[in-house]
Amino acid sequence: MKTQACPTTTSAKDFLPKRITLSQLREAAKGCRGCDLYCHATQTVFGRGPANAIVMFIGEQPGDQEDHAGQPFVGPAGRILDQAMQQAGISRDEVYVTNAVKHFKFEEQGKRRIHSKPNPRQIKACRPWLESEIQVVKPRIVVALGATAARSLMGLSFRLTQHQGEFFENTEWAPYLLATVHPSSLLRIPDEASRHRAKAAFVADLKLVARRARRATR
Ligand code: URA
Ligand code: SF4
Repeated sequence: MKTQACPTTTSAKDFLPKRITLSQLREAAKGCRGCDLYCHATQTVFGRGPANAIVMFIGEQPGDQEDHAGQPFVGPAGRILDQAMQQAGISRDEVYVTNAVKHFKFEEQGKRRIHSKPNPRQIKACRPWLESEIQVVKPRIVVALGATAARSLMGLSFRLTQHQGEFFENTEWAPYLLATVHPSSLLRIPDEASRHRAKAAFVADLKLVARRARRATR
């Protein structure tokens, strides 16, 4: 580990810009050293989408392809997400998509970079970016994709298995918050029938989101 060459502070808040707009935030996040993850990743992967989006999707952290592209959800998990959104009648251009953690965390196995889960300290260090994105966009609906995002927003005791597809109202983040599975969890289900069921449940959750979003715009 090159830890000595990777100075960090304790949180991303040390790098927040004075003016909180999406472009200022995106620019400032490029230089974040709020935790050690910046050191080995290629670049900060900031959120993407319109500043007036009604719905904000929050994943875990960028994957290998996102790390290279600098955009969230453009790899295999992104393709699953796009497909499910399309089936649910949600246009990706209209929603804001981001991650709980903005740098790719991985372990090297030969030439491959294998995703490794961010720890609670890294999630906490990175939260000021997410908080600022929410502060600017003010989404009516926040969708947590997977347990990491859900626990970052709802606390470490949150159980996705108990609360998948449920709307929480008047949360500190948004008037409506729903947690569902992470799209890449669907890629890892080996049994085809179970995978289809889990995918259908994911699409059903996104349909609830679509319906709620339509009501919010009326
Ligand atoms: N998985 C995530 O959680 N986010 C991405 O951007 C890509 C994969
Ligand atoms: Fe900063 Fe977040 Fe990257 Fe850590 S993961 S360096 S807190 S942007």
